[in-house]
Amino acid sequence: MRLRLLRSRRAATLDRRGRAIRQLAAALVLAVGVPAAVAARGEAPFARALQWTAPGAALPMLAEQPRQCPRADAPAPAATIAAGEALFNSPALLGGQASKAGLSCAACHRSGRDNPHFLMPQLSGAPGTADVTNSFFGPQRSNGRFDPVAIPDLAMPGKVSRAPDSPDLARFIRTLVVEEFSGAEPSPTMLDALAAYVRTIGACAAADARPQPRRLADQLRLIDQSFLAASAPGAADPALRRQLIAAARHQLGLIDERYAAPRHAALRRDLVTASRDLARIGDGDTGWRPALDQWHARFAAKLVPRLRQREAASLYDPAYLRRALAAPARAPD
Ligand code: HEC
Repeated sequence: MRLRLLRSRRAATLDRRGRAIRQLAAALVLAVGVPAAVAARGEAPFARALQWTAPGAALPMLAEQPRQCPRADAPAPAATIAAGEALFNSPALLGGQASKAGLSCAACHRSGRDNPHFLMPQLSGAPGTADVTNSFFGPQRSNGRFDPVAIPDLAMPGKVSRAPDSPDLARFIRTLVVEEFSGAEPSPTMLDALAAYVRTIGACAAADARPQPRRLADQLRLIDQSFLAASAPGAADPALRRQLIAAARHQLGLIDERYAAPRHAALRRDLVTASRDLARIGDGDTGWRPALDQWHARFAAKLVPRLRQREAASLYDPAYLRRALAAPARAPD
């Protein structure tokens, strides 16, 4: 009798423990959110960035970014810096697996800074680290070891000189693009632009150090950067021009992801058409400048107002994003 009582008490304790474990597991599933749920169902995540986001970090990754505090003493022309920023945010600059996955320099260096949420199984140890000498990116530089290091904040002085008269930064970036990320050889204009942009990346004063929300305006600004750069004399370089167009198209794709709900279907179709039109301009070698101007004017007049009007009903809206992450099967309408 005593024994039975003891046994049943133990069973009750075990049951309580089992319940606690089940509750913990449920809480974990909630915390892990979209990536785990999506992976379990074998679906593509609704935002590509979730492919390289640590479990539990989907919301901060998609909702926030470090504030940009560009250095005021940048010696390069605005159009060169704009070109560099557009390329920095474009997977088309990189090749192979990186570009296929939609990774750009900015995936690791958000706003040119670091990314504590970055986690890609083939590349990272702890979140915020990456092994950029991994054969995943390209065979040339693979050192045969898995040695991820912390993704550095490019606003901080590092091992590569940022001095405007030093060729080291452009050389380092060339090595990154070609040897580590299997990208096509960048033209000297592209490398100058990337180095010019990296030199402008500055740290914010403590009062401005809080992250800022990710908004539609970020994508619109980067599209404008591509167009500003494409209107400058440097854009006579066809390689740079093609990259700027690819960079703008990537931003259109990021906008598309955020308007995922069925009710935005017509808007998404128009975004796809706009992106195809842009690709066609990139293919042509003559008459591209007026064609780009026309595209940009049409985009600003026809699409931007509709996008702005519906931003609050898109995944740019933090409350809406939170709801979508909690019910990842489809974006709520
Ligand atoms: C997969 C993540 C990842 C991507 C993508 C990436 N980086 Fe980095 N970057 C790193 C890591 C990690 C280091 C540190 C490497 C080291 O210390 O050996 C680094 C280092 C650097 C440095 C040197 C900082 C110093 O110490 O002075 C620069 C500059 C830089 N990256 C620019 C870029 C540019 C430009 C691109 C795009 C062409 C890019 N990175 C893409 C992860 C990344």
